[in-house]
Amino acid sequence: MTVEVESPRRLSDYDLVGEYATLAVERGLADAKWYASPIPKEQMRGLLERRDGPAVRDTLLWFALLLAFGLAGLALWGSAWAIIPFAIYGVLYATSSDSRWHESSHGTAFKTDWLNNALYEIASFMVMRESVPWRWTHARHHSDTIIVGRDAEIAFPRPISIVGTILKCFSIPTFFKYFQAVWLHVRGKLTPAERTYLPEAEFGKVFLRARIYLLIYLAVLALAVATRSILPLLFIGLPAFYGTWLMVVYGGTQHAGLAENVLDHRLNTRTVYMNPVNRYMYWNMGYHVEHHMFPMVPYHNLPKLHELLKADVPPPYNGLVEAWREIIPALIRESKDPDFFVQRPLPAPAPRAETSRSAQVITSAANPDAAGWVEVCDLSLLLPGDVLRFEHAGSTYAIYRTSIGQLFASDGFCTHGRAHLSDGFLQGTCIECAKHNGRFEIRDGSVLRPPPRQPLRTYRARERDGKVLLNIASAQGG
Ligand code: FES
Repeated sequence: MTVEVESPRRLSDYDLVGEYATLAVERGLADAKWYASPIPKEQMRGLLERRDGPAVRDTLLWFALLLAFGLAGLALWGSAWAIIPFAIYGVLYATSSDSRWHESSHGTAFKTDWLNNALYEIASFMVMRESVPWRWTHARHHSDTIIVGRDAEIAFPRPISIVGTILKCFSIPTFFKYFQAVWLHVRGKLTPAERTYLPEAEFGKVFLRARIYLLIYLAVLALAVATRSILPLLFIGLPAFYGTWLMVVYGGTQHAGLAENVLDHRLNTRTVYMNPVNRYMYWNMGYHVEHHMFPMVPYHNLPKLHELLKADVPPPYNGLVEAWREIIPALIRESKDPDFFVQRPLPAPAPRAETSRSAQVITSAANPDAAGWVEVCDLSLLLPGDVLRFEHAGSTYAIYRTSIGQLFASDGFCTHGRAHLSDGFLQGTCIECAKHNGRFEIRDGSVLRPPPRQPLRTYRARERDGKVLLNIASAQGG
């Protein structure tokens, strides 16, 4: 589905509280259903398994590299040779923090969630993104990717400003916007746009973090003044100017120049093959179509996911150079003709295998017994560690069977959006929503990870004579 934004375009069309914000909702582009390639369920389950090992290894290496090049810069300070370690330090600090921020915001980098949260806070500070608002804008970016008036993370709004794009490589507009926002939040205020995606319960966290950020920057500034040296700022603050350029080179390939207002990531997102160094620096985010289609898959499994769906997506780009050879002329053209975009070729439709993630739907019109029990399916249809969707009398339920065979049930939709929990990933007694990685405890419906704030309603489920039964009269919580 594509909806055109009429000319003439203005940058204000992209405002989250403007005319196009309303139009996007009216046209069915907000929180819509997006295309997903069919992936055999068992294979997808294997890809979703979380591990701490890869991210612990990659994060320790990242910190070690930062330390090594920072110390080398310090040791060589006073000579021209210091430029080399600082140039590398700046890129490690300001560019690589982007992908660490990104993956930990989804909670998929580590299996242990406090590690995700710790890395998220550190990387948010380094990449100059306030951790709380950006968690919510990123959830919106995944719901409404490149939907005008809805997505706050459209990096190349049209008409493209060539000068603005060049300045972006040195983080100049970002730097000023960031400190403007921090200063606003330090004073306990929010913009109207922020009020469209931030729940009220998060306001205090936004203000607290903004005050902490400001204190850190003031401390670094004070140290620079006290020591009469720019060195402290070269370590914290200035990397945004001298180390961001590679983030723009990587990140620009994600969506720049592609279609807006389409409900298919294959049309508005690129996958770019990268060499091992770039894959490490960017934590495999070159596989961006794959990430957007299935944000629950951890970064270290994206190459395997790509192998599974590559026949159903447009051809990937063979490296950054090939991608930018398309992007630069497209951006120049979009600076004059905002209706232009690069059309990605879609392969012939893939067969919708009954094994795709969301295929397991059981529908029943049976009357419940006097105690409220209704039969769902044969137990053999619900494998250990799996979840299925059950439709009954106009209601949707999610029925879970844990890896040790316990049965649980809840309402079928995530309380954050209208995403089916049966498309999610069950790990222990935690169900993770496929749309924005929100998590719930299925024993009591409590929220384990935002963006959901409202708990799930749960029901009793049990097995009798090889059948799964649900008690629809036993609703708890929610
Ligand atoms: Fe957003 Fe479920 S719809 S986390």
